[in-house]
Amino acid sequence: RKPAELFPGRVNSAGIDLNDEATLKTVLEAVTKSESFAATALVSGQPVTGDPKSVVNPATGAKVGSVIEAVAYDVRRAIAAATAAAPAWNARPVEDRAACLERLADLLEENRPELLRLAVQEAGKTVGDAVAEVREAVDFCRYYANQARTSLAPEILPGPTGECNELRLVGRGVFACISPWNFPLAIFLGQITAALVTGNAVVAKPAPQTPLIAHLAIQLTHKAGIPADVLHFLPGGVEVGDAIISHTGVNGVAFTGSMPTARAIARNLLKDDNRPIVPLIAETGGLNAMIVDSSALPEQVVADVVTSAFRSAGQRCSALRLLVVQEDIADGLIRLLTGAMDTLVLGDPADIRTDVGPVIDAGARDKLEAYRQSMKANWVHALEKPTLSGTFVPPTLIRLEKVEDLTSEWFGPVLHVITWKAGELEDVVARINAQGYGLTMGLHSRIKATADAVSDMARVGNLYVNRSMIGAVVGSQPFGGEGLSGTGPKAGGPHFLMRFVSERTISTDT
Ligand code: NAD
Ligand code: ALA
Repeated sequence: RKPAELFPGRVNSAGIDLNDEATLKTVLEAVTKSESFAATALVSGQPVTGDPKSVVNPATGAKVGSVIEAVAYDVRRAIAAATAAAPAWNARPVEDRAACLERLADLLEENRPELLRLAVQEAGKTVGDAVAEVREAVDFCRYYANQARTSLAPEILPGPTGECNELRLVGRGVFACISPWNFPLAIFLGQITAALVTGNAVVAKPAPQTPLIAHLAIQLTHKAGIPADVLHFLPGGVEVGDAIISHTGVNGVAFTGSMPTARAIARNLLKDDNRPIVPLIAETGGLNAMIVDSSALPEQVVADVVTSAFRSAGQRCSALRLLVVQEDIADGLIRLLTGAMDTLVLGDPADIRTDVGPVIDAGARDKLEAYRQSMKANWVHALEKPTLSGTFVPPTLIRLEKVEDLTSEWFGPVLHVITWKAGELEDVVARINAQGYGLTMGLHSRIKATADAVSDMARVGNLYVNRSMIGAVVGSQPFGGEGLSGTGPKAGGPHFLMRFVSERTISTDT
């Protein structure tokens, strides 16, 4: 049976089929087009003035466009305008707000060629990853529109003494949405659409590396019917983020990024004793492990390890960082894995043959390269650097002794491997848990009791059994971590919208 029959109400985007020659040709033409894109901060839909900064393609160093970033004055104007606009937006019927998200989903699909181009040229995404990026953004719009319709309706609750009790879910006011560069469209719009559909006004700050695709997304969101004074665009770096968070007009924060930044934001929100407590949704990184036991199918493990660790150049929060293999099969598995690594093609992501594109910028490359060199004595395998001028890091496999040797999230194509002995499974899971992060975990085992035991023990938001660890699907695999990896609720899941609303109970004696 078709998915629509099995799961009525599912609305995931169909995406596009890159195996179809004509489609592939159109996509490749789009992603190799060279045209400069000019982005600016937008306060109530109006561009700001200032000095444009260049945005370059991490694979080639070529200029993709420019951005005029926001300054503190723009942040203040945007939050004042959003504060004034929020009540009227919140008073609009949920259906109106949901319809805007659905129009946005259609507009994203209509504008897919330009969005793909920017995802490839600005964020260094491979063509396949860029297609998935647009599809996920579309999914968020349709999923949150549907969720809003079903979960935001007021509820009448029974009153023991005969009064009428109405529970309303209302927007909190102004939400700050702060996002990373590695999902510059999907996460950027996922946060924004959730905040908007629940009746909030939004000030949105993309990562400084990816303002162009974010600017286009904001233009399309306005075109879809979101009023300009309800959604403001404030591109920039730490200073802009800090000015937004410090502003007492912000009533809620949706943040996705690194754990140290989440901590900085949490501290900043508590700085002013007179400020109301501001809800913070913070989704961060992980030291994600995959446990493999000797019953696993080696070829399947290798395919899933390569996807989990090296796809997207390892620049996914969900990516595999630590492979934990049962000793009996370790040598054979590592031989297969290094062979598979040798087949990976590093290169320009606009080339359909590329498996691993660049890392996002020179800062990321230099940090990863310094780490790789510091660990050279432990290399099991490393690919050669491509001769391209961009910011590439060769996929590398590094041997460690124990779980605790992995102390940081190395956000690139760098995988670590350790071994464990029969009888140590519980200890291994306990040690991974004790690291404090809890985003994704993988398990490869054909023993049901092992899968059950790990499912019960693992303190992670997303556990993947006998498959890869990346690519959570909106509405099917609600995504997000626990512990140092995030606060929840999970993006693309049925509870996400609840954190964006205030609950009000109105009890009337009849
Ligand atoms: P980052 O923490 O450096 O930046 C994220 C955003 O926060 C950017 O927009 C940045 O400008 C802003 N920012 C930085 N300092 C700030 C401050 N003091 N106040 C306010 N805003 C501030 O992260 P990144 O390098 O852009 O993204 C990579 C990280 O994101 C990785 O750690 C990855 O694991 C994580 N991530 C997590 C998820 C998830 O869903 N859990 C998804 C994607 C990425
Ligand atoms: N949601 C993204 C994934 O699952 C981060 O890979």
